[in-house]
Amino acid sequence: MAIDYAEKIPNNVDLASDRKLQRALEAWQPNFLTWWKTMGPALPTEDVYLRTAVDVGREGWAHFAHVPMDEYRWGIFLAERDPDRRIAFGEQKGEPVWQQVPGEHRADLQRLIVIQGDTEPASVEQQRHLGLTAPSLYDLRNLFQVNVEEGRHLWAMVYLLHAYFGRAGREEADALLQRNSGDLDSPRILGAFNEETPDWLSFYMFTYFTDRDGKYQLGTLRESAFDPLSRTCEFMLKEEAHHMFVGTTGIDRVVQRTAELMREHDTDDIAPHGGIPLAVIQKYLNFHYSVSLDLFGSEQSTNAANYFTAGLKGRWQEERRQDDHVLTEDAAEIEVVEGDRITTEQVPALLALNHDLRSEYVADCRTGLKRWNRILDRFGIDTHLYLPHVGFNRKVGIFAGHHVTPHGELISEELWEQNRDEWLPSAADKEHVRSLMRPVYEPGKIAAWVAPPSQGINGKPFEYEYVHF
Ligand SMILES: [Fe+2]
Ligand SMILES: [Fe+2]
Repeated sequence: MAIDYAEKIPNNVDLASDRKLQRALEAWQPNFLTWWKTMGPALPTEDVYLRTAVDVGREGWAHFAHVPMDEYRWGIFLAERDPDRRIAFGEQKGEPVWQQVPGEHRADLQRLIVIQGDTEPASVEQQRHLGLTAPSLYDLRNLFQVNVEEGRHLWAMVYLLHAYFGRAGREEADALLQRNSGDLDSPRILGAFNEETPDWLSFYMFTYFTDRDGKYQLGTLRESAFDPLSRTCEFMLKEEAHHMFVGTTGIDRVVQRTAELMREHDTDDIAPHGGIPLAVIQKYLNFHYSVSLDLFGSEQSTNAANYFTAGLKGRWQEERRQDDHVLTEDAAEIEVVEGDRITTEQVPALLALNHDLRSEYVADCRTGLKRWNRILDRFGIDTHLYLPHVGFNRKVGIFAGHHVTPHGELISEELWEQNRDEWLPSAADKEHVRSLMRPVYEPGKIAAWVAPPSQGINGKPFEYEYVHF
């Protein structure tokens, strides 16, 4: 499964043996590069210390070196094929997985791939200007690493569209470069990917909460009976782990610095001292968590049920579940709004698969909160960060159109509007955070609102020159 870097498009799918496909992808490549140059990182650099995949195996798959970013070797890397792999769930459970797209599932699979593919370049667009205000070279390097890999994830989805979906697939691949985040005429498909990522606190929150949604979506597609999709997602998940590391440790470091400043100045109001108050961190968290929850779709969904039954999309860690993997007899409990209160209701498990995935995600998100609160504990700070109620600030699903406080009370629209600035970043909060965003590009130096990392990348020290200008 070694990757062929002699090819114009690095790959481990033996692209050279399919001339037609190779030509089509080579024709798409310049469009991708144009998109990268116009919509990718705005900060000019000479080279960046980046990792590149050299193998898809468990051990040592990454190679680190300084590379000019637009010469990054984006390619097509699928995890190794398991010749005995069988469908793990749904109507065809136990049958061999598919190496081609069954005609009856063509439209649904294409749609799933397009939706996933659309998020990848979207985040690069959202993060385009962050390089202008990075708090350190270490952070700048991490941003660019995330950006080039999201670009590669776009390649991953475009490969599937080109290789398995004919002319319609090629048209969708072109459209992935034509929609743009926040564009009024042709926006990205999902709401959270049209929001701005205007500052580094937002970036850390995005990589913690929104990239983590990506992890769970990819986890369901990794279970797919369509084997090339499963293998693609398997390898994307490996890359995705670093993106979430950037978020987790980024928020660690902001919380740490905030706690230091609170102790040093003996006040919660550390804004005048150049820090980000804990209350503002909580509001950013509330925002990014709630828009990321919207990405899971409606709690009850017949589409999700059909995708599962057909074998297109499984559950998170499907094979570890202790049930029949068909779910026609099972029930699940979901939250519902009944009159003026929030209660729960039993529904068929098949209909509640989005809710199931969201619950796995919520449990995972809690681990971050524990970490950050441990940092606060170490500083003897009693105020803790928390995850708001799942109904808070929702635009999709059961809670859309309702007004729910972070603590889960249903309130009137009027009361919501009165308190909105207490719960979500206000114009003044955003302005303050923005005012702290100044680039620090001297090796070993860091902005005053965030603590340095406990270690560098790939064994290099924090002081290392991760980026050359
Ligand atoms: Fe991605
Ligand atoms: Fe990611």
